[in-house]
Amino acid sequence: MSMGERHQSLPSTGSQPLSTTRTAETVSRLRCISCGANPDSAGQDFRCTTCGDLLEFFFPGWTYGPDAFNPPAFDPATLKSLWLNRRTSGDALDQSGVWRFRELLPRIPDPEEHVITLREGNTPLYHLPRCARAVGVENLYAKHQGLNPTASFKDTGMTVAASSAHQGGFRWVACASTGNTSASMAAYAARGNMLSLVLIPDGQISWGKLSQSLDYGALTCQLRTDFDGCVRILNDLVRQKPVYLLNSVNPYRIEGQKTAAIELMEQLAWEPPDHIIVPGGNLGNSSAIGKALVEMREFKLISRLPKLSIIQAQGANPFYRSVREFGGKKLEPMTADTLATAIRIGNPASWKKALRVLQATGGEVEQVSEVEIAAAKAEIGADGIGCEPASAVTLAGLKKLRRSGFVKAGEGVVLILTGHLLKDPDFTIKFHRGDLFAGTGDAADVAETKHLQRAPVVLDADLGAVIAALDGTERNS
Ligand code: F0G
Repeated sequence: MSMGERHQSLPSTGSQPLSTTRTAETVSRLRCISCGANPDSAGQDFRCTTCGDLLEFFFPGWTYGPDAFNPPAFDPATLKSLWLNRRTSGDALDQSGVWRFRELLPRIPDPEEHVITLREGNTPLYHLPRCARAVGVENLYAKHQGLNPTASFKDTGMTVAASSAHQGGFRWVACASTGNTSASMAAYAARGNMLSLVLIPDGQISWGKLSQSLDYGALTCQLRTDFDGCVRILNDLVRQKPVYLLNSVNPYRIEGQKTAAIELMEQLAWEPPDHIIVPGGNLGNSSAIGKALVEMREFKLISRLPKLSIIQAQGANPFYRSVREFGGKKLEPMTADTLATAIRIGNPASWKKALRVLQATGGEVEQVSEVEIAAAKAEIGADGIGCEPASAVTLAGLKKLRRSGFVKAGEGVVLILTGHLLKDPDFTIKFHRGDLFAGTGDAADVAETKHLQRAPVVLDADLGAVIAALDGTERNS
């Protein structure tokens, strides 16, 4: 089949039968976030044809307008018990922690064989007792999105967007990535029997992520540029070739990623925490979580909004600067640089969406240094959880928000951990060996992280040497 051809017969995407428990059709429409245009469908680049800004889904049936009360198809209590009941179902759609919440998503691909699911979502909420003590808050939890099938939060959006590509009959899907989107896209494309094209910045993504897209069979192009350069090339490509764009400008991605917040509220018995803290890179995830919070309140699933705060690495902080220096009126792109390579992004696509949810929830934006990120990552690890560097900005940011008084001791806080510890073992090993900042300007600040370092100890194969090491550690602990 040539690239432009559509699938003749589409493959089955799961061994188990898909849901027969569909209850109602969700009516969703597209809307431009700037000019409000309502296109019937999105173009190849998922941008408004009138003004060029991003599109989003909205659900006309849910609006509680000033003049009309337009009740949704379900009352909140019915929805909550429906979603809970699906957890006992053997049905593939119900087993997905994304499609389980399908009443709050765009319409399920029809027929349902188009749905590509790896049973994503269903991620745990962990208490972080040591981190809580270190930060000085009583209730500190982590929702670990790194425990998704490809070990990052991207899978929750990818199941929805890749299924939409499948329904559209696309042969090729593509993304620009700092490594996690590409890993996720490659996996879902493979499951759906589609071909995938990955554009990644040469030498700037971790081996763990690169190895995933190779194994899942993507055409992986390492471009001699940064992430923002990869995005530019991809945008030009989709205008010329019939490839389906799977970056988070694709509003289906945002809809799927909303379910992290819905699942979190369910885990908290629909009692919202005071704060939710997320890392900010391209700003799709914060937009998605914020959108879910606003919709859940509109839908009366929760009674109040948590404050959603967004944390960036200091070397990749265009959104922080936009809010702090320009009051959110403009965003100046920058050349980004951080060891947290997942969020090494200088021109975030979804900054206007993120700004809107920041304002709607009353959240804060913060930036954290490289040393603060490394220390926070080791502290999350020491709670037995672990995450990749970009996720650790959440704890580092929380420390600053606590010091500034924005977060109070008695308040409940949930960190969204976005990627698994094993995504970037190089960073972790270098940190514990004390090599991470060697030869950099940060080397001087590293002394304060010494107590967190656990370098491997090389010993002779001798019982006495092992006992001496054990006793030495015992004395110092
Ligand atoms: N954390 C991790 C582990 C990520 O991979 C990313 C983004 C983010 C946080 C930031 O999320 O972009 O929605 O604000 N990774 C993208 C990628 C850019 O290509 O994998 P965001």
